[in-house]
Amino acid sequence: MRQKQSEYMHWAKTASRARFNLATSGVGSFPLCELGALPPLEINGDNSYGYAPLKRAIAARHGVDEDCVVTAEGTSGANYLAFATLLDPGDEVVIEHPAYSLLVDALEYVGAVVRRFEREHDQGYAVDPEAVRRAVTPRTRLIVVTNLHNPSSALTPDSVLREIGDIARSVGSRVLVDEVYLDAVYENTPRTAFHLGAEFVVTSSLTKVYGVSGLRCGWILAEPGLARAMWRMNDVFAATPVHPGELLSVAVWERLDAVRERSRRIVEADRKALGAFLDRATRVSAVRTEWGTTAFLRLAGGGVDEFLAKLRAEQETSAVPGRFFGAAECFRVGMGVDSEMFAAGLGRLETAL
Ligand SMILES: Cc1ncc(COP(=O)(O)O)c(C=O)c1O
Repeated sequence: MRQKQSEYMHWAKTASRARFNLATSGVGSFPLCELGALPPLEINGDNSYGYAPLKRAIAARHGVDEDCVVTAEGTSGANYLAFATLLDPGDEVVIEHPAYSLLVDALEYVGAVVRRFEREHDQGYAVDPEAVRRAVTPRTRLIVVTNLHNPSSALTPDSVLREIGDIARSVGSRVLVDEVYLDAVYENTPRTAFHLGAEFVVTSSLTKVYGVSGLRCGWILAEPGLARAMWRMNDVFAATPVHPGELLSVAVWERLDAVRERSRRIVEADRKALGAFLDRATRVSAVRTEWGTTAFLRLAGGGVDEFLAKLRAEQETSAVPGRFFGAAECFRVGMGVDSEMFAAGLGRLETAL
């Protein structure tokens, strides 16, 4: 029987909230009223294979041709559409561990045989090309990484991604890079990995770093032939996108830098608070980054589920259990929503520790 649900997503929707909510992954919601003058809305539009102004905005931002852009419902929809197009049942896929579990769930649902390569806590969760090489076989059709890494926010440099591209090419595989957190590198933001070679496919959205999750503005960057195949696959799933969502998304793209800057201050203040907390904390360790909206903390001695239950019951504070990423000794905290709440939550975490 194929798995037809996600334990993590159900938990995130029904059980993650608390008065001091450290279980978030993206920045706080961007309110419509801050968008300024709204575009004229219309219900239906010319969007059989995507709305041209939206595809143009995505293409221009990434320096790619419009033919390489496929729009999708969030990065979730983008990942699923990419997997469904690229893979047949029984194809091997190599994906990082720890990983965002929805990626694994979606791969298993499309019938892929999933193999893992380790990103080690003690190595800063860096992608080790040798570990990838060991996991790849002649049957590998896709290698999947997140950049930034969810849960740790580790950044993979282009030099390493190129090596992954070389490994993929050697067996006729592609590389899918989920870049939903990449724009949370606020200084010297890296270019999309799409430019690194023809084997690269990239997914992303305006959800985590921009706070406009409700628009579900996601996309895939793929070479034109593959992009066309994805549009044809999408005919099977969703026919056409929600047009008012496309119109509002274009309005966000027109003000994208301002929308991103709005939460940067909160993310950076939270990171400072997290750094000070980690300086003091004795039972937890984390890989520190200067970017990203999440951090993955390892609890010395384990017992994370019991600890988080106590944290919730006694301190009204939540965080994401590491078991959802396949790392039961860790838990994830999220930045970028409300600095006062975040600092208070860290204080309560410290008390619980
Ligand atoms: C790595 C990764 N990809 C995709 C998603 C889903 O993004 P979206 O809300 O755009 O569907 C998440 C959400 O947490 C994520 O962490």
